[in-house]
Amino acid sequence: MVKNLKRSGLTKENINCAPVMEVVDLSTSFLTAAGEIKAVREVSFSLFAGQVLAVVGESGCGKSVTARSLLRLIDPPGYIKNGWVLLNGVNLLNLTEGEMRRLRGTEISMVFQDPMTSFDPVYTVGRQFTEALMAHEKISQQEAKQQALQMLSKVSLQDLERVFNSYPFQLSGGMRQRVMIAIALAMKPKVLIADEPTTALDVTVQSGILAELKRLNKETGSALLLITHDLGVVAELADRVAIMYAGRIVEIGSVYDIFDHAQHPYTRALLTSINPIQEDGGLTAIPGQPPDMANVPPGCPFSPRCPEALRQCRQKEPEQYIIAGEHWVSCWRAESEERKISGA
Ligand SMILES: Nc1ncnc2c1ncn2[C@@H]1O[C@H](COP(=O)(O)OP(=O)(O)OP(=O)(O)O)[C@@H](O)[C@H]1O
Ligand SMILES: [Mg+2]
Repeated sequence: MVKNLKRSGLTKENINCAPVMEVVDLSTSFLTAAGEIKAVREVSFSLFAGQVLAVVGESGCGKSVTARSLLRLIDPPGYIKNGWVLLNGVNLLNLTEGEMRRLRGTEISMVFQDPMTSFDPVYTVGRQFTEALMAHEKISQQEAKQQALQMLSKVSLQDLERVFNSYPFQLSGGMRQRVMIAIALAMKPKVLIADEPTTALDVTVQSGILAELKRLNKETGSALLLITHDLGVVAELADRVAIMYAGRIVEIGSVYDIFDHAQHPYTRALLTSINPIQEDGGLTAIPGQPPDMANVPPGCPFSPRCPEALRQCRQKEPEQYIIAGEHWVSCWRAESEERKISGA
C-alpha cells in the first residue's frame, strides 16, 4: 500500500537521533459518578524533529485526552495520574502552572479542529497574530506584521492585507485553519499537536491544508503529532503511526510497518474498514463496539471483537512485543520471550 519506504521518513540516521519529546507510561483518568474512566492508560511514544506521528483509533479511544495531557490541559474531574512527558529531557508534569503556561504556544502548540474556538472574535486575526509574535520575541509592531504576512503567504493565503485585517468570522473555515497553522508554526514550536485539524472542512480544502502542514513542519523542524480518523491522510502524511484502542496504544510503527505489516487484529480491522469499496460496494465496519471506558473488561480490551482471540486474551492484558526496530505490538498472538519489551 505504501509504495515508497523512503516516504516513511525513517532512516538508520534519524531513528537513532534523540527524540524531541518522549512520553512514557502516561495515564489520565476522569473520576465520574459512573466510576473511574481510564481514558489514557500507560501510553508511551516518542516524537522526532521534522517527523509526523499520526495517532489513529475509533471515537472515544483517548486521542484527544492524550494530546491535551501533553499540554497539561486536563480539567477536573480529569487528572494526569502517572507518567512522564519529557520535552528535551525535562518532565513537563513536574513544572509549575506558570512555567507550563510559558511553554504553551511557544515550545508546544496545538491546532484544534475548530479554529473559531482559538480566536478571539472581537480582534482582527492580524492583531492576534502580531500580539502572539510580540509576546514571544522582542520585536516592533512593524516587524511583527512583516513576519505575520510572510507566514500567511507560506500557508498559501492570498490577498494578505485583507486576511490580516479581517475578523475571524469574515474568513472561511479553511482560511481560519490556515491562519491558525501559520500562527502556531510562526512560534517555531518544538512540538505541534494537530487534533483532527481539517475534519470540519471540505474534502478539497483538507488535502491542501494538510500538505501545507507537512511541508511547513519539515521546514521548521517541529515534531508533529497528528490526530486523525482518516487513514488516507495517514498514508500521505505520517512517518510513524500509533494505533489506539480503549485508552492504550496497541501498535506503533513506521507507516510502512502499519500499512504493510500490521500485527494487531485491530489495526488490520481498521485498515480493512477503510478499504474504499468492498465487493458488495459498501464499507466494512468493525463488528461490535469499543468497551465502555468506565467498565473495560479484563484481558485485552479488543478481545470481545477480535476474530483471533485466544483464551488468555480474555484473561490478561497482553504484554508488548517488538516486531522489528521501532515496530511493536501489544497482542498475545505476537507472544515470544525474545520479543518481549522489558518492564511491559
Ligand atoms: N471531561 C470528561 N469527563 C469524563 N470523561 C471524559 C471527559 N473527556 C473525555 N472523557 C472520556 O475519555 C475518553 C477518551 O476521550 P477522547 O476525547 O480522548 O476520545 P477521542 O479518541 O479523541 O475521540 P474522537 O475521535 O471522538 O475525538 C472517552 O471515553 C471520553 O468519554
Ligand atoms: Mg478527539
